[in-house]
Amino acid sequence: MKIAEILKKMITFSNGNIHDIDHLIKVWTYAKTIGELEGLDPETQFVLEVAAITHDIACPLCREKYGNANGKYQEIEGAPLVTEFLSDTGMTTEQISRVAYLVGHHHTLTDIKGMDYQILIEADYIVNASENGYSKENVENFVEKIVKTQSGRELTRAVMSC
Ligand SMILES: [Fe+2]
Repeated sequence: MKIAEILKKMITFSNGNIHDIDHLIKVWTYAKTIGELEGLDPETQFVLEVAAITHDIACPLCREKYGNANGKYQEIEGAPLVTEFLSDTGMTTEQISRVAYLVGHHHTLTDIKGMDYQILIEADYIVNASENGYSKENVENFVEKIVKTQSGRELTRAVMSC
């Protein structure tokens, strides 16, 4: 499947939850943009975009099962869920397992290895910061300690005007 088809499949899966749909579209847009600006190879770019589209796939299940979508629950439930979700997309086993790894680690800010992981974290942060109105201190701290890409740094500062 192409990215557009996986995006359509994920929107359909989100079943009218506009907050979830808007969130994933925003995270995908920033991830795609940062990935292209940083010159990722096509394979890494593809895996990054699929991970961005599906990263919060476990949110509805976690709200139902645990009463909240706490990051750790999402990571535990997300990996198997996304593996199943992507099984009919024609993606390779390696691609699916990398996406599952990223979905299963997208709230883990230690030991970030790989540009796909790094950019997913940056894109999700930009959207969460704007949706939840994070403080200037929080944003500065994130830019200083976590952000690695030039375009991620500039976009975070532009969006949060700091
Ligand atoms: Fe997210």
